[in-house]
Amino acid sequence: MKVLGFETTCDETAVSIVEDGHHILTNLIASQIDIHAEFGGVFPEIASREHVGKLLPLLKGALKKTGLIKEDIDAIAVASNPGLIGSIVTGVSVASALALAWNKPLYRVNHVHAHLVSPIMGLGPKATNSLFPALGIVLSGGHTFFAKMSSPDQYKILSETVDDAMGEAFDKVASILDLGYPGGPKIEKLASLGDSSRFPFKAGRVKGMEFHFSFSGLKTNVFYTVKELKKANGPLSEQDKCDIAASFQKVACYDIINKAEKLASSMSFQSILIGGGVSASRYFRHHLNERFAPKNIPVHFPGKGLSTDNAAMIAGLAYFQSLSN
Ligand code: KG4
Ligand code: ZN
Repeated sequence: MKVLGFETTCDETAVSIVEDGHHILTNLIASQIDIHAEFGGVFPEIASREHVGKLLPLLKGALKKTGLIKEDIDAIAVASNPGLIGSIVTGVSVASALALAWNKPLYRVNHVHAHLVSPIMGLGPKATNSLFPALGIVLSGGHTFFAKMSSPDQYKILSETVDDAMGEAFDKVASILDLGYPGGPKIEKLASLGDSSRFPFKAGRVKGMEFHFSFSGLKTNVFYTVKELKKANGPLSEQDKCDIAASFQKVACYDIINKAEKLASSMSFQSILIGGGVSASRYFRHHLNERFAPKNIPVHFPGKGLSTDNAAMIAGLAYFQSLSN
C-alpha cells in the first residue's frame, strides 16, 4: 500500500510517499528555519503562507522523484492535529482536495502519535511485531511524554511534562544564551566543548508523580545563573556559554534517561521507541544507548531526517491505522 503523506503542522512543509509503512520512497522537506530565525521562534502567519507556496511544488517533486502517478497511490494522509491552526488548514485543504479529486481514502493523523511511529519505519513487519509492548518516548518542541504502546497505532500516555516540553526548554536556554532558533542543535554543538559539571543545575520534580517532567524550573535556573554571571563579570565568555550548555544538556537528558530506566524496570517492555526533534541529539542517543545496552531492551531511534518533523511518519502512521480498520 503506497501512502502519500503531508505534514504542515508547524514550520516544515513536507511531502512523502511510503510503501507499507516501512519503505520510504521519497521524503521531501522544505524547512522554514531561516525565515523564522530572525524572530527567535516560529511566526504562525508567515508559516501558513509559506506552506501555501511550497505544498504543490513538493507534491510534484515527490511524484517526479518516484516516477509514480496518481493511479499508483492507494491513500492520502495528512497531519491534522496538534499544531498551528493556519498551518494545519493549508495541509488539510490540499490533502482533502487531492483525496476528492483522485478518489482516494484520506487519513487524518495525529502528528505527535506519528513521532512514536518514526523509529519503527524501515524495520520491516517481522521486526516490528516483536517490539510490543513498547515504552514510547516523545521528546519534541511541543510535547514530552512516556507512553505504553501496545502496537504502532495504539498507545496510552503514562507520564508527561507539566510545563515546558523538552525541545522548548532547549530553545529557551538557547535564547537566554543568544544562540538563535532552533536551539537544540546549537546547544548540543556548544555543549561538546563545555564542562558539564561546572553548573549544578537540577531537573524538576513533580510532587507525587515520579515519572512526570518539569523543565521550567531548570530553564529559570539557567536564566538566573546567566544573570549573576553577567552582573559579576560582564558579557558571557564563549567558555561560559559552552559550560552552561553542557551542564543544562546533561541534566535535561539524564532526567529522561533516569526516569526511562526506572519505568522500564517496573513495567515489562519489549523495546524502547523514541521520536521527536530532541531524539536527533547524538549526546542523548549515546547516553541512553549506554544505559540500556546491558539491560537487553532494544532501543530504536528514528532514521536520518525522521527525528524532526517530516511527512514519512505521517504516511507511516496512516498505513498502521489502515491495518486495524
Ligand atoms: O519534533 P520537532 O521537529 O517539532 C515539534 O513537533 O515540536 O522538534 C523540534 C524541537 C526543537 O525544540 C529543537 O530545538 C529540538 O527539537 N531539537 C533538539 C536537537 N535537534 C532538534 N534538541 C536537542 N538536541 C538536538 N540535537
Ligand atoms: Zn513534531
